[in-house]
Amino acid sequence: MSATALDLVSVTAGYGDNPIVRDFSARLRPGSITTLIGGNGAGKSTLLRAIYGTNRLFSGRIVFRDETIERLPPWERLRRGIGFVPQGRCNFPAMSVAENLKMGCYTLPAARHEAAIGRVTALFPLLREKWRIEAGNMSGGEQQILEMAMVLLLEPSLLLLDEPSLGLSPRMQGDVFATVQRIAAIGVTVLIVEQNVRGALLISDRALVMEQGRKFMEGPATEVRTDPRIRQAYLGGNIQQTAA
Ligand SMILES: Nc1ncnc2c1ncn2[C@@H]1O[C@H](COP(=O)(O)OP(=O)(O)OP(=O)(O)O)[C@@H](O)[C@H]1O
Ligand SMILES: [Mg+2]
Repeated sequence: MSATALDLVSVTAGYGDNPIVRDFSARLRPGSITTLIGGNGAGKSTLLRAIYGTNRLFSGRIVFRDETIERLPPWERLRRGIGFVPQGRCNFPAMSVAENLKMGCYTLPAARHEAAIGRVTALFPLLREKWRIEAGNMSGGEQQILEMAMVLLLEPSLLLLDEPSLGLSPRMQGDVFATVQRIAAIGVTVLIVEQNVRGALLISDRALVMEQGRKFMEGPATEVRTDPRIRQAYLGGNIQQTAA
């Protein structure tokens, strides 16, 4: 296996005639968790969309598992193993957990549905417990876990997560972070954007910091979370109290 799961080479991406992310380069190691940090409007979601192929790439290259993918449509990237959980949750709130998972299998041959659902429910037994419950009636954290499970049905090797803990209680945020760790532990590479920067850094191997669309800093998560500029801007300046 290549030592690089995803290689972003000078990516400039945005919408219409407006580049938002500029000249952004980064490499993700297989099975690692990387947090993408940045203020509101910095371009974090825009970068995730560029990797998935749902906005405009102006220039640069995107190499996924040694293949150049930047010209491929999103469904081809999905087929090659990129999973994307966008901001906001619960695609089918009026359907049961079982029905949601069935929907999540729609691109797989029917013969593989049962095994795929078996795999994700083994990873998240909670989903079996809530099997007949309408997804919209589950807690926010439970819904987020269902959304991640639906993407994992397709066995991605790279998972892009945009603010998975947004709007959740601290306890549920902890559940979501623990879930992300379990996903990485089975070998999936994770790129996560999080408003809970502190929590995300604690589960991450590396961090990328974006300011106004450009890379401002990168490094091991342990180093980034003790950097005075990061503490000041994103961690309220007092990481000592909660750092492990
Ligand atoms: N579909 C779109 N069309 C045009 N401009 C957009 C579109 N989506 C986002 N933008 C603009 O791109 C810029 C970056 O937005 P983006 O959503 O990537 O930021 P972000 O870092 O994810 O912010 P947040 O933390 O608030 O989610 C913003 O100025 C935004 O207005
Ligand atoms: Mg965003």
